Amino acid sequence: MKALIVYYSMYGHIRRMAEAVKEGAGSVSGADVRICRVPETLSEEVLIKMGAWEAQKAQGHVPVCTMEDLVSADAIIFGTPTRFGNMCGQMRQFLDATGGLWSKGSLVGKVGSVFTSSATQHGGQESTILSFHTTLLHQGMIIVGLPYTFAGQTRMDEITGGSPYGASTIAGGDGKRMPSENELDAARFQGRHVAEIAAKLFR
Ligand SMILES: Cc1cc2nc3c(=O)[nH]c(=O)nc-3n(C[C@H](O)[C@H](O)[C@H](O)COP(=O)(O)O)c2cc1C
Repeated sequence: MKALIVYYSMYGHIRRMAEAVKEGAGSVSGADVRICRVPETLSEEVLIKMGAWEAQKAQGHVPVCTMEDLVSADAIIFGTPTRFGNMCGQMRQFLDATGGLWSKGSLVGKVGSVFTSSATQHGGQESTILSFHTTLLHQGMIIVGLPYTFAGQTRMDEITGGSPYGASTIAGGDGKRMPSENELDAARFQGRHVAEIAAKLFR
């Protein structure tokens, strides 16, 4: 069973969550898990102005995702930061290049799942994941979220991301807050849950 994690991360929060998703998916027996990133669409000049250049360079070694990568996966777990309550433009552009796969039904029946990140606690995590699901449904994918059997999403003793729709993290207004242990646990749980379901489907 092949699981693919496809992400974009401007400042590294989604990147950290993607690693945790990979750990979780990789804990399922027989799972072959890979991470790739979607192409950057912003120029170096803009990334420097946005204070994102160092974080981008640190991800330079991560392979850029291709259409073939999507086709060969049994499960695809997408990670995107929130942009005005939606997925980021880099991810949108990548998905908008999958029309050829849609016309052939290449992604039909694959498992799809989404995790996210936002600056603020109520800054659009749920709308980002749920609006992302629309694209996955058009592609015929089977959507998997983060069930309440991940008890960490009911915590009231600390501020935390995570909802039934998927794992998430809160980066803070200045972007300095990195994913908490609870948020990373949610990402690991989601990765394992997706891989377990995909393994059952594709046994
Ligand atoms: C153009 C733009 C729009 C954004 N919109 C939102 C938003 O609607 N709500 C929010 O909480 N954060 C918003 N953010 C903050 C990002 O979601 C945050 O920087 C991101 O989650 C950090 O993850 P990353 O380091 O993986 O990129 C926005 C950031 C940018 C640059």
